[in-house]
Amino acid sequence: MSDATEDALAVAIDAARSFLRTRSSRPVFPAATLDSLRTALGGPLPLDPSPADRVVGDLIRAADPGIVATVGPRYFGFVTGGALPATVAADWMSTIWDQPASLYVLSPAASVVEEVAAAWLLDLLGLPAHASVGFVTGCHTANFTALAAARHEMLRRAGWDVEADGLNGSPMLRVVVGGEVHVSVIGALRMLGIGARQVVRAEADAQGRMLPRALDEALGAGSGPAIVCTQAGNVNTGAFDPFDEIAAIARRHGAWLHVDGAFGLWAAASGALRHQTRGVELADSWATDAHKWLNVPYDSGVVFVAHPAAHRAAMSLTAAYLVRSPDEPREPMDWTPESSRRARGFAVYAAVRSLGRRGVEDLVDRCCRLARRFADRLRQEPRIQILNDVVLNQVLARVVPAAGDADAATRDMIARVQQARVCWVGGTRWHDMDAMRISVSNWSTTDEDVDRSADSMIAAVREIATR
Ligand SMILES: Cc1ncc(COP(=O)(O)O)c(C=O)c1O
Repeated sequence: MSDATEDALAVAIDAARSFLRTRSSRPVFPAATLDSLRTALGGPLPLDPSPADRVVGDLIRAADPGIVATVGPRYFGFVTGGALPATVAADWMSTIWDQPASLYVLSPAASVVEEVAAAWLLDLLGLPAHASVGFVTGCHTANFTALAAARHEMLRRAGWDVEADGLNGSPMLRVVVGGEVHVSVIGALRMLGIGARQVVRAEADAQGRMLPRALDEALGAGSGPAIVCTQAGNVNTGAFDPFDEIAAIARRHGAWLHVDGAFGLWAAASGALRHQTRGVELADSWATDAHKWLNVPYDSGVVFVAHPAAHRAAMSLTAAYLVRSPDEPREPMDWTPESSRRARGFAVYAAVRSLGRRGVEDLVDRCCRLARRFADRLRQEPRIQILNDVVLNQVLARVVPAAGDADAATRDMIARVQQARVCWVGGTRWHDMDAMRISVSNWSTTDEDVDRSADSMIAAVREIATR
């Protein structure tokens, strides 16, 4: 390692220490404005080189006022995990080593770490041990990868080689999704040549669960190769599609069954929650995130496919210079859309190794308990309504004022909570209503964090009422 790298790292380690020490006490959302950040970070293209330690020091000083404490315990926006201690350090090491996880010969350690982590994840999530696994950037790309495998296999069964012949003139591929499908599934399909208007939406119930009857009707309305996209964990309510019933229907119609389980798939790792994923193991492919509930640093998603040959056929590329090892080890690029990519397996390995089966279960159960605590605290304020059954780590809340517009009051509450900066939550629309989304996904969140955050929300509602 050059001295310059060590000097720059020394600056980074100092800054990391002070950031980590204050991550739960600093305001969750920063005060910097767009203009102030542009001024601090911008300027003309530098002409001359600068010393590495000065570059890193300046970058940290300029960026810090715009850093959101998403790793802190009171960030409840989107579905955002923190980063477990072992994963942060392991991820740093993958940068120090700078290993591309493409081919075994580029990094034997990265290949074997992926192999081991893949087997652990399959075991943890109760998925078939023979499934193939790819380490990607996130669940969106995991959905893409799984659906590429599905496209390959369903068209292959219909006598069409999509990798060779493309989609022009291919048999029509039917795709059925739930009425509350996550937008990343639509995005993934779009990249695979299946337009948003070609997708059939099967009706969902009040919690966002696909209705099996609606799926049966949708599949029965046509013929030919079909893919069904279900979800484990609706992004708003946390609800699960009824996989056992859906799997039977998909099988009867000869359809490929995919599960988007960005965070909800982790319920399968909990004895108390597993019943909600009953039948999930019967699917053909699954997509999830490690940077959500497993609390691995961004970016980290995982795809699992029960048909390794289809997975590999959809992803694998060969070229004379891309040399494969004679012992037939795992060649990481056979399972992902990228060729070169960072060795994400190290951080995933570190997460599972540091938590163990019990630690993962405890993390998932704790977040769900804290979500229920959140809902119970918020219900103490009569003007707050909880819109969802809190079956997982997601809470959907809405302000219902004595008089006036509930949507406007809900948006007002969210803005006030964001300005108070005790915690951070975002908004959404749910069944034509504005709502506040709370997602408890961080390993370091405590009862006290939930109580302080709920108090901040209740205070915002009371301010609105006395305005
Ligand atoms: C159900 C679901 N699927 C897919 C995604 C996309 O995940 P990512 O942004 O990690 O690619 C999300 C993100 O929140 C999600 O909740």
